[in-house]
Amino acid sequence: MTDSTTSSPADPTSRNVTGESIRLEGVMKRYRGSSEPAVARLDLEIDAGDIVAFVGPSGCGKTTTLKMINRLIEPTEGRIYIGGRDVTAENPDSLRQSIGYVIQSGGLFPHWSVSKNIGAIPRILKWDKKRIAERTEYLLDLVGLDAATFADRLPKDMSGGQQQRVGVARALAADPPVLLMDEPFGAVDPITRARLQDKLIAIQHELAKTIVIVTHDFEEATKLGDKVLILSEGGRIEQFAPPEEILANPASPFVEEFVGSGATLAHLTLTRVRDVDIRDVVTAHVGEPSGAVVSRARAAGEEWVAVVDQHGRPRAWPSIDEVRAKPEISDYLDQRLPVVAQSSTLNDALDSMLATSQGGVLVTDGRGAVVGALNIAAVMEAIRGQLATVRDDDDHVGYLDHAEGSAPVETPVVAADDEPGFESATDAGAAPVGTPETSADR
Ligand SMILES: Nc1ncnc2c1ncn2[C@@H]1O[C@H](COP(=O)(O)OP(=O)(O)OP(=O)(O)O)[C@@H](O)[C@H]1O
Ligand SMILES: [Mg+2]
Repeated sequence: MTDSTTSSPADPTSRNVTGESIRLEGVMKRYRGSSEPAVARLDLEIDAGDIVAFVGPSGCGKTTTLKMINRLIEPTEGRIYIGGRDVTAENPDSLRQSIGYVIQSGGLFPHWSVSKNIGAIPRILKWDKKRIAERTEYLLDLVGLDAATFADRLPKDMSGGQQQRVGVARALAADPPVLLMDEPFGAVDPITRARLQDKLIAIQHELAKTIVIVTHDFEEATKLGDKVLILSEGGRIEQFAPPEEILANPASPFVEEFVGSGATLAHLTLTRVRDVDIRDVVTAHVGEPSGAVVSRARAAGEEWVAVVDQHGRPRAWPSIDEVRAKPEISDYLDQRLPVVAQSSTLNDALDSMLATSQGGVLVTDGRGAVVGALNIAAVMEAIRGQLATVRDDDDHVGYLDHAEGSAPVETPVVAADDEPGFESATDAGAAPVGTPETSADR
């Protein structure tokens, strides 16, 4: 069951917001040689401590808008305020030192070690060495990388997801109130992406910065964004609202189409692991005598044991039988352990189960410690509930509601194009669905 003492849901009232508001006023960008502006007169207000996701088709002006906020691109017209301060005329170099910026694949300096990358801006700001070293260690821990292992590595000797986390750490180095991210998770696989998203949510829960993130993916936008900004060509605002509202009330046909086929999926994205009942798990530490662990699991009626490290982070998830097969809990580290965060979506949980071929996932808190487990039945149950809500909105007639003969419609044929005998779906001789014999045509 969900235990309110182990979960730590976001409580906006108790957050110590360190972010600052961002306001764009009549901001316009026309690139030299272009007749049409890339961004035409944009007015936008982003609250301090919010994550806002920019989505929209390619070329609609997301990157241009983002880069105008830290003046990597100079607006042709308009004013930009950060924390109420007009930064349009500020020195762009010092402005950029106070705004974190993360790009796809981290954008790390390739010949610099991880720690040198993270310390880049603090060095410019002339922090002393000790302070930089402490900050680097804190940030590596925050993004879930072990400082002893990674501080001296070069980016090329790390995975894409790890580099991305260093990119986030570097952007946070000088503790900027605003973090800008341009498709930061575009280049990693879906499971890693889900974990990076969860990490970002956890970091944001702790630091409460103001984050603007550009993404192509509406599902990602609904997962991360307190609000989502949907743009169409020319940086035109189609809708700027919380994801639930966009799904419930798309403001224009453009939004409807953009959200379109992803809407059902996006509804599932709105349900978090923390919103469904997670089960308690029995945990054990490396080196514990197996007999005691088995008795503990039995007493709790559990068939599985989560082996955790000294921080409560999961290492393995053996069955009682597996535990019993060794005298004490082994230091085995399962590289394919299915793990999701409380902020993960039900989609993420399902993905993780499918990728590891397991019927359950372990659930961790913002620091990666195990707080429970979720099985596939619970996820399916919640998804069924969600789908029922979504489908209630349609005028779908069910088997029992159907009045005999009231709507004579032909059986639709669903078949692969290259299946012999299925060339024409309207052919009276076509076999009904589910009976793919083609003898009638032979
Ligand atoms: N340096 C430039 N010079 C001229 N035109 C540019 C320049 N940079 C971008 N553009 C144009 O401005 C428009 C907006 O580009 P922008 O990069 O902001 O789009 P985007 O929404 O980030 O797209 P994507 O999703 O593909 O990254 C596009 O039509 C693009 O071709
Ligand atoms: Mg872009």
